[in-house]
Amino acid sequence: MTAKVLDGKKIAANIRAEIGEEVESFVSQTGIVPHLSAVLVGENPASEVYVRNKQRACDEAGIASGLHRLADTATQSELLALIDELNQDRAVHGILVQLPLPEQIAEAEIQEAICPSKDVDAFHPENVGRMVQGKPRFLPCTPQGIQQLLVREGIEIAGRRVVVIGRSDIVGKPIACMLSNRGTGGDATVTLCHSKTEALDSIAREAEILIVAIGQPEFVTAAMVRQGAVVIDVGIHRTDDGLVGDVDYAAVSQIAGAITPVPGGVGPLTVAMLLRNTLRAAELSAGS
Ligand code: GUN
Repeated sequence: MTAKVLDGKKIAANIRAEIGEEVESFVSQTGIVPHLSAVLVGENPASEVYVRNKQRACDEAGIASGLHRLADTATQSELLALIDELNQDRAVHGILVQLPLPEQIAEAEIQEAICPSKDVDAFHPENVGRMVQGKPRFLPCTPQGIQQLLVREGIEIAGRRVVVIGRSDIVGKPIACMLSNRGTGGDATVTLCHSKTEALDSIAREAEILIVAIGQPEFVTAAMVRQGAVVIDVGIHRTDDGLVGDVDYAAVSQIAGAITPVPGGVGPLTVAMLLRNTLRAAELSAGS
């Protein structure tokens, strides 16, 4: 069996077109142009590409964007001062501080400094708490993209056995929470696995939906996948053989029922969800 390829790029293009229409009607009703401010500290080449892609996507959807650059020697207080300025700026609706940050910066303090109503990454503890309680203001972009992919592909989630590999704050923990929350896009039975999990292979093989965000190239082999499973690969790694994910795509696509490619799977959906959150932030600030 060869797995169906889940075309994240195509779904993201549809979502971006929908958001573009919503932005147009928001602007015509309120006269307010949604605005995202990105902050880039240092010159990490991957971050440069991600931020450029995010800005281009904003532009295409009619969302204004600004880029604030700090040197990789920037101090905590310089970054906090910039965030304070953006928090105060009424024209800025969304603030995104691109990760990773240089090691002299305490990431958690930065995330807590962003005004929760402008926190389009949904990393602020208030937004994490709201998401856990099932009353989100914003949903984090990558997990929201995965959930949209499953829903829009008509993949049943309620009652299904989901295994998540990787417990990061950005992907693993929130997707496990969102898929087990009550309601549309949720109601799954979720197991969250990580580096200390015992018998990982046999737990992964129980998954009807396997979500892999472990950050290791081709970590998931065919022997870890149940026949017909839906496999979502969040990883992206540059190797001598080109870009690969956290899943051994060639082998696993012979076992799985459906699988996301790398690139062109989860990545484009993350960007689309950032646009959704920025529009939502602008709507919140306009009181709608
Ligand atoms: N770096 C990798 N993923 C992300 C993300 O979703 N948001 C931010 N701000 N930085 C990232």
